[in-house]
Amino acid sequence: MSHSASDQRLTDLLEKLQQKYAAMGQDMPSYLDGLLYADYLTYWDYIHLDTLLSLQNPKTSFPDEKVFIIYHQITELYFNLVLSELEQICHHPQLTDNFFVARLDRVIRYFQHLEDSFEIMIVGMEREQFLKFRMSLLPASGFQSGQYRMIEFCSTDVINLVNIHDRPGLTEYSDIDQQLEKLYWRSGATELATGAKTLTLKQFEKKYMGQFRELALRYRDCNLLSLYQRKFAGHEAIKQRLREFDLLANVYWPLAHLKSAGHYLQRDPEDIKATGGTNWQKYLPPRFQKIMFFPELWTDLEKEEWGKLGVVKAIAAS
Ligand code: HEM
Repeated sequence: MSHSASDQRLTDLLEKLQQKYAAMGQDMPSYLDGLLYADYLTYWDYIHLDTLLSLQNPKTSFPDEKVFIIYHQITELYFNLVLSELEQICHHPQLTDNFFVARLDRVIRYFQHLEDSFEIMIVGMEREQFLKFRMSLLPASGFQSGQYRMIEFCSTDVINLVNIHDRPGLTEYSDIDQQLEKLYWRSGATELATGAKTLTLKQFEKKYMGQFRELALRYRDCNLLSLYQRKFAGHEAIKQRLREFDLLANVYWPLAHLKSAGHYLQRDPEDIKATGGTNWQKYLPPRFQKIMFFPELWTDLEKEEWGKLGVVKAIAAS
């Protein structure tokens, strides 16, 4: 760049800066002073590395507990990225099909990564260590992941998250509180005979139920399903992404997760109780819950076969 060209660039930049600060009634030269004395940014400060590495506080001295904590944290960070993409789709002032598809592709990539990496849980810890340190974590359970539930509320109508046995008595137009009362995960952590809630559920509800209700209301007309129905019904590329996301979130990830429960908690003749107190063999398998975000995108047969091992990949390929 010639001398005068670079002078011109500087003048232009200063002018733009002047306009930027003037618009806010600020004195631009004072900000330039600040720039003069400011330190250069470092990588470790930018990503808050020291803070990040101070957030693992094992409750026991078993080294594999660190794998367990960090993997949960990684998952929560991915969940946070998913939520941020969903927020951008659902509250976009002028949502286009291209934007919808591109952001769904991101969501799909995050979930694919979570599904693939679940091996870290399934085979990446010593079973003996796991069974010991998990006793120090009672009654905490991944069941209490608030972000996991938030992804559900942003993706579909509440009626699709209602326990399958309670759905016949309700419709999408039923009172929202009645629907929330019957969420599948609330039933899953409630003793059917007595109606008693597990402590894991009680604590979870106390912390999050208010937020969930607000979120469900905020996303009532702009969750992914609702947007598809109202603006993009029949759009092939969007339909294909929504189906893929549904399988990842409600079949593939849950099956990968279920494998870890099978690996650590199943021991003949007696099964080891789950930390959250659910009957996990009945609760976790997708074929029992039949939770799907976009039921209208599946045939009756596909719904019936939902979550059955062996058919799921075939559904995806069809
Ligand atoms: C060795 C690893 C793991 C085992 C053995 C395991 C076991 C379980 C069990 C038994 C449940 C049923 C609820 C209960 O009674 O506690 C559950 C629920 C759950 N866990 Fe895990 N888990 C593992 C890792 C993870 C990880 C890494 C995450 C990531 C955040 C996670 C997230 C969840 C979620 C979201 C639920 C609720 C699922 C639903 O409501 O359908 N789990 N887990």
